[in-house]
Amino acid sequence: MGAKLHTKILEYLPQLSEGVLLEIGSDRGEGSTQFFAGLVYGTDRELYAVDPSDFVAANVMQYEHYIDNFTFTQTTGEIFLSKFKKKICYAYLDNYDYNNWENEPKNTWEPWVIEMISEYDNHSNAKCVQVHLQQAQMIAKLAADKCIIQFDDTYGNIDEHLMGKGATAVPWLLENGWHTVHISDEGGGWILANYDL
Ligand SMILES: C[S@@+](CC[C@H](N)C(=O)[O-])C[C@H]1O[C@@H](n2cnc3c(N)ncnc32)[C@H](O)[C@@H]1O
Repeated sequence: MGAKLHTKILEYLPQLSEGVLLEIGSDRGEGSTQFFAGLVYGTDRELYAVDPSDFVAANVMQYEHYIDNFTFTQTTGEIFLSKFKKKICYAYLDNYDYNNWENEPKNTWEPWVIEMISEYDNHSNAKCVQVHLQQAQMIAKLAADKCIIQFDDTYGNIDEHLMGKGATAVPWLLENGWHTVHISDEGGGWILANYDL
């Protein structure tokens, strides 16, 4: 993630009348979870954040218990959603990372790329797009009447070739009643809605 694309929620939040906020892929210091937590603090809106990483759990636990309407769960988005029953009005999907250099020789990868995927067992981009698709399909089932789904790190042209986290989830949503409301070239943000803005 590069730009602070999660702040785009501010444009849609006043329209989203019911449901919880959900972030899948949480606090590694880039600011999204703290930003969402600040948004719900002192309001009636609930925030749920999910990530399987010990590092992330330690970060989030520093402030989660101060905020009654914020719940962090240390697990994957797919497992969390398989048990979740509440309506969702906003979901930020920035989880299983995509490796833009997967097809390049490994000895040319930057150290940060190697570090990024080191937390994954047998990392693959196929798995990245599969889990984001699975999560999107589960969120669509729980979506409030007015719901926004936002993907990070999703690049390309919908008519030609999409790459990144939302590469298969975005086309699936578009075929199932959702429409694109924002595409950000910088940082690869892709935002969809199930209602007319
Ligand atoms: C790019 S980082 C998230 C950054 C975060 N949004 C921020 O702004 O600080 C991706 C995260 O996805 C997590 N992750 C990997 N697979 C996941 C899955 N299946 N479900 C939920 N989170 C996952 C990783 O542990 C990692 O912390």
